[in-house]
Amino acid sequence: MRETWWREGVFYQIYPRSFQDSNGDGVGDLAGITARLDHLNDGTPRSLGIDAIWLSPFYRSPMADFGYDVSDYTDVDPTFGSLGDFDRLLAEAHRRGIRIIVDLVPGHTSDRHPWFQAARSSRSDPKRDFYVWADARREGRPPNNWRAVFRRVGSAWTLDEGTGQYYLHHFLPEQPDLNWRNEKVREAIDDVMRFWLDRGVDGFRVDVASGLIRDERLRDNPRIQVRGWPGRRNWDLDEVHDIHRRWRKLLDSYDGDRMAVGEIGVRNLRRHVRYYGNDDELQLSFNFHFLEQPWIAERFRAVVEEWERLLPEHAWPDYTLSNHDRRRAASRYGPERAGVAAVMLMTLRGTPFIYYGEEIGMTDVTIPPERVVDIDGRDPERTPMQWDTSRNAGFTTGQPWLPMGDFGRTNVAAQRDDPASLFSLYRRILRLRKSSPALRRGSYRTVPGPRGVFAYAREVEGESVLVALNFTKDSQHVSFETGPGRVLLSTDHARDGEDADLQRVALRPDEALLLRAR
Ligand code: GLC
Repeated sequence: MRETWWREGVFYQIYPRSFQDSNGDGVGDLAGITARLDHLNDGTPRSLGIDAIWLSPFYRSPMADFGYDVSDYTDVDPTFGSLGDFDRLLAEAHRRGIRIIVDLVPGHTSDRHPWFQAARSSRSDPKRDFYVWADARREGRPPNNWRAVFRRVGSAWTLDEGTGQYYLHHFLPEQPDLNWRNEKVREAIDDVMRFWLDRGVDGFRVDVASGLIRDERLRDNPRIQVRGWPGRRNWDLDEVHDIHRRWRKLLDSYDGDRMAVGEIGVRNLRRHVRYYGNDDELQLSFNFHFLEQPWIAERFRAVVEEWERLLPEHAWPDYTLSNHDRRRAASRYGPERAGVAAVMLMTLRGTPFIYYGEEIGMTDVTIPPERVVDIDGRDPERTPMQWDTSRNAGFTTGQPWLPMGDFGRTNVAAQRDDPASLFSLYRRILRLRKSSPALRRGSYRTVPGPRGVFAYAREVEGESVLVALNFTKDSQHVSFETGPGRVLLSTDHARDGEDADLQRVALRPDEALLLRAR
């Protein structure tokens, strides 16, 4: 498999509202991100050492869904700065060898987008067909039984009083769905992609990439549905793959290995794998199963083994433990497991995606009712980055848009000089990954272990790295192969470099070990 930055590198997701505020309005911005790039990669072991950033939306938006409701795809919302700020961020990142992919939100616009404003102005407006319109089924009843993804929204249809028809929206009513059966919509989004590719971005994270195309006849969904996602007639239709192939061609028409990673909301991995196509669709596709596993070694192993079995030769996996839509990993599993989780994410075969703050073990923050701002309960995992112990953790000089977490205990500055900290573990493991072809692109092989231990080998010609993850609170033993070995890295840094008997490797509670034969 050809070496490429997005296969071998480590991604870091930034939620721009919450990374760093530069102008004191309490909301993070692009200039703030630029000012903090040295934390991510300054070329020395003091920094985290990531290779690429995924930026959640910073486009013009009324912020009904905090940027996932776009009213202008080719401009920066004043809250986040200007296009000039974006260019500076991109240039500064590239100067440090950091790539940037931006969030593409093709499924829906804001209801304030000029396209929707035109579309709702009359049934005969030329932009009418940019969206999905339908008549009431019966007086006062929506056209069918489709539900929005946000539970509190209910029906995916809202009546537009002015023109007397319903429009489709799989998220908020303020996020009308674009009509992807309309070639003009496809062309308009091509233009958006070209705009950012021409500006120099390295690719896209594609929002709701498995939605987009809905049943043409708008038939009801069957009553029994898969939990969490709407049913078959408005999700994961075969025709959506045509759009992904179109995007791949567009990406490939640029030089410099531009790529896209799709948000694929398909639980069944056998269906999911189809999004890799014949190496002619999006290069990566998010596997979200780690976000749903309880802390049980066998469960994680089962996900990895199934994915490894299903992926065709050309396809490359990726894994993630947290994002802006889900509880943080350190909260789901408990902070004492964050080290094992980190070593797993960084050593499996596949591209890791780290969510900002994960590197210091940030946890979900309890939000008092009067400060709740998200309709879908996602504020706790979106609180501001915790840099130091100064006012508001160094995030803002103003009033932070969400409450701050426990930054007195958990912050970058305190962890930077502590060799036993989670941040130090992340820095060690990222450096090791960078220096090891086996970890970056080697094969994956499960190694049998006792209950509660997930063990595997990563191998390339001439190098083999063994990984042992203890998911339990007990001491464990794993047997790899005969012969003496060495500890490359442990969650307990004091063990780095120790000799080890690979026949009988001792694992402490909540410990992860990387080993190599001597
Ligand atoms: C995706 C995003 C989520 C957003 C939704 C609507 O699932 O990750 O944050 O609310 O799409 O755009």
